[in-house]
Amino acid sequence: MTLLVTGGAGFIGSNFVLDWLKSSDEPIVTLDALTYAGNLENLASLQGDARHTFVKGDICERALVDQLLSQHRPRALIHFAAESHVDRSISGPGAFMRTNIEGTYTLLEASRAYWSGLGDVDKAAWRFHHVSTDEVYGSLSEQDPPFAETKTYEPNSPYSASKAASDHLVRAWHHTYGLPVLTTNCSNNYGPYHFPEKLIPLMIVNALAGKALPIYGDGKNVRDWLFVSDHASAIRAVLQGGRVGETYNIGGWNEMSNLEIVHTVCELLDELRPDAAGSYKRLITFVKDRPGHDRRYAIDARKIERELGWRPAETFATGIRKTVQWYLDHPEWVVRVQSGAYRDWVAQQYQA
Ligand code: NAD
Ligand code: TYD
Repeated sequence: MTLLVTGGAGFIGSNFVLDWLKSSDEPIVTLDALTYAGNLENLASLQGDARHTFVKGDICERALVDQLLSQHRPRALIHFAAESHVDRSISGPGAFMRTNIEGTYTLLEASRAYWSGLGDVDKAAWRFHHVSTDEVYGSLSEQDPPFAETKTYEPNSPYSASKAASDHLVRAWHHTYGLPVLTTNCSNNYGPYHFPEKLIPLMIVNALAGKALPIYGDGKNVRDWLFVSDHASAIRAVLQGGRVGETYNIGGWNEMSNLEIVHTVCELLDELRPDAAGSYKRLITFVKDRPGHDRRYAIDARKIERELGWRPAETFATGIRKTVQWYLDHPEWVVRVQSGAYRDWVAQQYQA
């Protein structure tokens, strides 16, 4: 038994791979193109571990995906690889269309070819697990109920539109060809190894460097936040017991405005790394809003709880404390990410 994981050197993918190998000896093959967001240092603790194989490559390369499937014969493919940052999708949508749509299409077609050739038992057990986002559902007003799995798709950014397209492809490959798929739509994650272009890690590293903490618009946009290891445990639960062809929403039951998030981060830093110049809140700066900025996301995660018994283990209070502490404990990771040195490390270690 083996899992093929795409995007396993990114934020959520690397947390998933590390979590999986903590509690299972089932091997993982990671396929990752190591874009700016892929950091092999996240998986450095697995060097020399026979249970993990890293392959640098692009999910759009059909021949490579075919070869990995026939060589490693995985029982499931877990698809994390994506372009994932909304702001980058606004300034350059092309890479999002290619990786998120064409890449998912390539993986589906390669999977279909491989899966068609399996014996009956392996065929029934095989899974394509597509990791997606709540952003496909669009934006909520304050009074709207949270997103259920039945919510219509209303993506608003090039990122969420490309993820919505990939979700539709996955659905169609199940409906038309019978490919055994699972889709999970998760809310905003936070935790270790989060690239400091996203809100929470950006605020932590900027605060520690004495730089401005840029808040878009009025700071009242709301997101549901989930600690990343809870996302990993939800994926394990869906992979193990999810009904084929179904989608499951994953969330933390934790809606907060951006301003509340940044205040919490500042208060934790004030406690754990006080600054003689005063509270880190002094660095908060309101900046021009993101174009098309979705006002509110919220997740109704009752289906995954009812069917699979999954609930998040962390509260926001426990998860954000662990996260801030992780960044304080790993200044070298931050420095290497910010300077780009993690890419030199990859070149040396991996002969990229
Ligand atoms: P990330 O940007 O940190 O990592 C993406 C990874 O995919 C990187 O390692 C990158 O090198 C790799 N990749 C990109 N293009 C590739 C390609 N063409 N071929 C192979 N590898 C490629 O993203 P993340 O935050 O870890 O998100 C992982 C998945 O979870 C994405 O599908 C995202 O849409 C979804 N998701 C993210 C969040 C969140 O809060 N970050 C929430 C819900 C869902
Ligand atoms: P982000 O982490 O980019 O995730 P997403 O847009 O996919 O939800 O942003 C989270 C929220 O934080 C979002 O409402 C935009 C806001 N934000 C800021 O206010 N300032 C920033 O510098 C960033 C990166 C995000």
